[in-house]
Amino acid sequence: MRHLLSVADLDAAEATALLDTSDRLREALLGREVRKLPTLRGRTVITMFYENSTRTRVSFEIAGKWMSADTVNVSASGSSVSKGESLRDTALTLSSMGADCVVVRHPASGSAHRLAHWADADREVTGTPTAIVNAGDGTHEHPTQALLDAATLRDRLGGIAGRRIGIVGDVLHSRVARSNVLLLATLGAEVVLVAPPTLLPTGVESWPCRVSHELDAELPALDAVMMLRVQSERMHGGFFPSAREYAVRFGLSEDRARLLPDHAVVLHPGPMIRGMEIAPAVADAPNSAVLAQVRNGVHVRMAVLYHLLAGAPE
Ligand code: CP
Repeated sequence: MRHLLSVADLDAAEATALLDTSDRLREALLGREVRKLPTLRGRTVITMFYENSTRTRVSFEIAGKWMSADTVNVSASGSSVSKGESLRDTALTLSSMGADCVVVRHPASGSAHRLAHWADADREVTGTPTAIVNAGDGTHEHPTQALLDAATLRDRLGGIAGRRIGIVGDVLHSRVARSNVLLLATLGAEVVLVAPPTLLPTGVESWPCRVSHELDAELPALDAVMMLRVQSERMHGGFFPSAREYAVRFGLSEDRARLLPDHAVVLHPGPMIRGMEIAPAVADAPNSAVLAQVRNGVHVRMAVLYHLLAGAPE
């Protein structure tokens, strides 16, 4: 694996190998007083975020530090990006400073692929490889989110193949939904998207999943339900249905959560809009895996950095 740009680039064996490495790294750190492995000593990981983030940016930084890599954070507002520097020039500048890996989040779909193209061209000239990790590109993909969600589902359900997973809400603007549909289908799950017709993307019929508009009808047969964030920053001029109608029809209220089977798991990638997408009591209930997702995010991102910079373990 040279870059991680899309879960579509992973087959079931590759995705499972990443999840297994994540589990092994978690075990390796368990009970240690000092959470530090020497695996990536001398390597440099740069996170370059053109959009806000708490979970992804911080967990990549922790993942790098726990494996002894040197980590540097670059944000658009505090860098020469604010002076008009292009994505390409910024990325090649960081690569020239010796970045072994650039983790990028950008509002433009396809930006991580462009970066990987420029990094590969630069490698031809300088001989220095820079791995690119997509930490979210526009409405396209968020591969490490899907991997950490899969890790959490494996933990909670004992496996993914044959499980029925519902993904609910603003699919139209969600890179999390697309990456999850692709990865969960690759791992053998049955995926159902539940959304209002106005919040589904064109071409969703070709995705490896079923589409429904009736959340109450789907909940009793789900092994897990993943609530999506309503991406208001990508909606210019509001959205339909209104926030109130959305909460009534697609929010996971306490009453609605009771329709789930007892074993079912509730997920949300965060940040959550409590009261609209998910009731506070549901987000904090024992079957909610929201904080387990965050914990798994660090180990999954350690696994991604490991596979990219040290090679897949035997
Ligand atoms: N889930 C997720 O990507 O969260 P952040 O935007 O906080 O990174």
